[in-house]
Amino acid sequence: MLSEQFLQELKLRNDIEGVISSYVPVKRRGRNLVCLCPFHNEKSPSFTVYPDNQSFYCFGCGTGGDVITFIRRVENLEYIEAVKLLADRAGLAMPEDGYDDRAARMKSRVLEANRETARFYFSCLMSPMGKQALEYLRGRGLSDATIRRFGLGFAPDSWDMTLRHLTQKGFTREELAAACIAVQSSKDKTRYFDQFRGRVMFPIIDIRGNVIAFGGRIMGEGGPKYLNSPDTPVFKKSRNLFALNLAKATKENVLILAEGYMDVIALHQGGFGNAVATLGTSLTSEQARLISQYANTVVIAYDSDGAGQAATKRAINIFGEIGLKVKVLSMTGAKDPDEYIKKYGSQRFKLLIDGSDSAMNFEIEKIRSQYDLDTAEGKVAYLKDFVAFMAGISSEIERDVYISRTAEEMRVEKSTLLLQVDHAIRQRTRSAEKKQARDLSTFAVDKKDRSDPERSRNIRAALAEERLIAILFKNPDYRDYLLSRISPEEFITAFNRQVFSCLCDRLEENESLDMIALSAVFDQAQMGRISGIIAAADGQNFTRDEAEDYIKVIKDQAKQKTPQELAQMNDQELKQYIAGLAGKKPKATL
Ligand code: GTP
Ligand code: MN
Repeated sequence: MLSEQFLQELKLRNDIEGVISSYVPVKRRGRNLVCLCPFHNEKSPSFTVYPDNQSFYCFGCGTGGDVITFIRRVENLEYIEAVKLLADRAGLAMPEDGYDDRAARMKSRVLEANRETARFYFSCLMSPMGKQALEYLRGRGLSDATIRRFGLGFAPDSWDMTLRHLTQKGFTREELAAACIAVQSSKDKTRYFDQFRGRVMFPIIDIRGNVIAFGGRIMGEGGPKYLNSPDTPVFKKSRNLFALNLAKATKENVLILAEGYMDVIALHQGGFGNAVATLGTSLTSEQARLISQYANTVVIAYDSDGAGQAATKRAINIFGEIGLKVKVLSMTGAKDPDEYIKKYGSQRFKLLIDGSDSAMNFEIEKIRSQYDLDTAEGKVAYLKDFVAFMAGISSEIERDVYISRTAEEMRVEKSTLLLQVDHAIRQRTRSAEKKQARDLSTFAVDKKDRSDPERSRNIRAALAEERLIAILFKNPDYRDYLLSRISPEEFITAFNRQVFSCLCDRLEENESLDMIALSAVFDQAQMGRISGIIAAADGQNFTRDEAEDYIKVIKDQAKQKTPQELAQMNDQELKQYIAGLAGKKPKATL
């Protein structure tokens, strides 16, 4: 456990405003700051930074906490690693001992194991055992230099050869299981076997050069075609991209996004070193943001089949929300970039990129293709759809260009189209504003906790409990008074009980209720909930009378019986219970 003193120093030297604004541009709003949430997609900012108590909370996705929680989230780090990063940032020395860095040690062991495994797979590919695999890769047109550059390999077709090699190198079976290089047998827990067997291996390398995961392709028939590492302590597939380590070195402002490992490798070999791919899942907003750190334009080069085109549409939306310029490649005569380059050569692929259409044309073309423009009904329906689409485009210039062109093509008055688009925009804004107002007025943490059935079952009491927690945060001097009126055991919901009693205990020990101190005790999701409770009470002051009201709500709820309890009562008990409730309807205070 880190000392309170060290954490206070860390907090002072890492002002939350400064730290967060070095990741995302923030704007001042009253005492607080707001910005677009870096953890989910949104168009109007609901991510709020509270300099007063050095916390943050997003009303859209419920993420929240202190500066350490923020760094953990944004950098994907364990608690102690985030503390180290902040200490480094502030030029603060970490305390010599007294903290637990088991998780950090495990991570670095997993990375070492991955590196050694990649080396082993490569040596297997180059050995007689890997003959067939090497022929497979060469047969797909890869040069030896490319194979080496990507560090491709071969996982021996054996139950434990990789495992044996790595244990000989000093790795424990637990470490290998954590890396998902070995799998524990579900039948016999003492047995472990190799995760990848008889497959061509693609190491996945992050931007720092760490081997973080593997993809393995089967060579013959049978399935699954690819086996990819699941998420591990060092790998989140939603946050990484294949070959970004190589692509970022090209220093181009453009990245090409393909679907498969083989597409990327073929593209690099063909001279397009700026190609990357997702890791067997569809594009996430985190990956889009990652791309936007290295490029201002992305060329989507997905497969030309239906699935690829649907994925293209989704990707356009995600990039659009991030504000990245998007171009879409339309390939004919080949199913994917790998095949295209093989069939037509990389020069023609270059022409394809240069002539790639803007995302806007792609979308409009998609809409248009759904209608029969030879009929009047078809035209009208198309224009309606077009107007709705235009209303979602934020740049007026861009809208004007496409509206003019479409008006001309469809032989309608441009002014009519403009009018309709304006109308649709106004309607859109109004309903968006309404929705946001609704979201903010309902208690902030409310809809985030569908995962907590206890809270939803006892919502009135839970809200009252949360108010009491907020009151204690604002007025730590109320502790004794509050405890004289209600004890933590009387809290109905487990989480709020835990928080309330933790806060009371800390005050008793003369410890602060600082968010930075709490993040050592509560996990990231819990910190989010606590920040939500505080955020919902921002700028409000509470009197003791209000506290009394909340206490009453909790106590009344405690008196209420569940349907199961009611069913087990005899007539006498039931009568008494009902008499007790009569006239005691809890006052609506929330
Ligand atoms: P080739 O068929 O060898 O050309 O592979 P590819 O790289 O072109 O892959 P494809 O377009 O078939 O699939 C795109 C990506 O989806 C692959 O790179 C994998 O990451 C992933 N993928 C494909 N098949 C599977 C599968 O069977 N299971 C899983 N988990 N992922 C797959
Ligand atoms: Mn392919």
